[in-house]
Amino acid sequence: MTTNITAEEMAIQREFAQKAAALFAERGSPPKAHVHTFGCQQNVSDGEKIKGMLAEMGCGLSDTPDGADIIIFNTCAVRENAEDRVFGNLGALKHEKRRNPDVIIGVCGCMVQQEHIVERIRRSFPHVDLVFGTNALHTLPELIYGQLTERKRSFRIPGGDGVIAEGLPLRRESALKVSIPIMYGCNNFCTYCIVPYVRGRERSRRMEDIIAEAKSAIAGGAKELLLLGQNVNSYGKELGTDFPSLLREINALDGEFRICYMSSHPKDATRELIDTIAECEKVTRHFHLPVQSGSSRVLGLMNRRYTREDYLGIVNYIRERIPDAALTSDIIVGFPGETREDFEETLSLIREVGFDSLYTFIYSPRKGTKAASMPDPVSAEEKGEWFRELLEVQGEIGRGMYEKYVGQTLRVLCEGEGRTSSELLTGKTPQDVIVDFDGDRSLIGRFVSVKIERAYQWALVGKIIENLFS
Ligand code: SAH
Ligand code: SF4
Ligand code: F3S
Repeated sequence: MTTNITAEEMAIQREFAQKAAALFAERGSPPKAHVHTFGCQQNVSDGEKIKGMLAEMGCGLSDTPDGADIIIFNTCAVRENAEDRVFGNLGALKHEKRRNPDVIIGVCGCMVQQEHIVERIRRSFPHVDLVFGTNALHTLPELIYGQLTERKRSFRIPGGDGVIAEGLPLRRESALKVSIPIMYGCNNFCTYCIVPYVRGRERSRRMEDIIAEAKSAIAGGAKELLLLGQNVNSYGKELGTDFPSLLREINALDGEFRICYMSSHPKDATRELIDTIAECEKVTRHFHLPVQSGSSRVLGLMNRRYTREDYLGIVNYIRERIPDAALTSDIIVGFPGETREDFEETLSLIREVGFDSLYTFIYSPRKGTKAASMPDPVSAEEKGEWFRELLEVQGEIGRGMYEKYVGQTLRVLCEGEGRTSSELLTGKTPQDVIVDFDGDRSLIGRFVSVKIERAYQWALVGKIIENLFS
């Protein structure tokens, strides 16, 4: 069962934050905290809460662990290399602890929801003081206060289906582009995926809480709202509402801003959803619809609950209703039991759809998932070859993909200085394609109208057309 953390419990945590702040204040100079977030946008959003709580405790934030008083690693478990990276960084902190035994080192996030990882930290990383799971995030003030009053290793990893904690302070990464979680957890249990085990069951925030957060972000100057969930398309099921209704509500809010969302699962990408997106002018014209494989047989083994034909049907409907929409996807190569023929179906699917771009992954076995115990006869070398082939095919498809935008005038959110040169400004089109253009820095944070003049493989270059959009 989902637990809503009560207002009383949140008030208790705020008291701990104040008590911790008082103890820090006795030290003279304000403490410095370093938060390193790995993984997806959900984790980045949790990182904003961690930073918010630390700021409430009087901490300044530091970009580096060197010399920090508090170091927190907010971890990701989705693939083995994500975990390896965390362990590598964590090992390096041994020296920091030797240099400064007072430093408080904490590890949280998805990795520590797994027993074998917690055991490894317990045994091999004695310099870690705090380990807290995704359901204990809101108790950080209490945990830090505990460290300040009694230096004892502390492990807090509550089980259960997951919690919703409203009202945590936030330190946003950007005031312009704001992430708003709309739901947590996942019920889909794709057989390769660890997320449902480490993030608990699906649970949606109340629509009024989301709308209140969206309004306050817009009032604070936000121009892009990114609605977050592992599967936003199943938002609101337990509350008697749904994602299209939420999109319509947010789209109707006053102000000039755009709405993005991630991730969406093809099995729940209904016609109603696509119709709603077509009608909501503030919603991005970009569908990131992870297909994972082009073989219905492999999709069955993955427990994705759609076939190749279902997926192509959704794509056709999107193209019919929103012809200018961009499509991107995730692909896993080398799922256990995938054959050369299955892989070729993936190649033929990506050719058929013509994705704007792809996120591609080699299958990584995750302990405790169903796929981890499936026979996996294909060698790592062969999977590597398939992976390179996939990149090549997508490279061909992507070449020239953006030519279609040349000559078009598009509404672009100006996000900042150009990547290649500070002389240029950069922004994103309604299809989420990067575009660079000349212009004054005062335009940052505004929507401008840009005529596209040139297309490269990953970006566009254009010129501002005056006065089309204010
Ligand atoms: N909830 C999101 C996915 C989150 S994980 C969704 O369903 O779209 C992001 C991507 O990582 C997945 O789409 C998948 O392509 C990839 N992925 C997840 N588990 C993986 C694993 N064990 N090995 C390789 N790739 C994986
Ligand atoms: Fe993982 Fe599937 Fe859930 Fe996405 S929908 S988080 S891939 S189990
Ligand atoms: Fe990683 Fe957890 Fe996100 S496993 S991808 S950080 S939900």
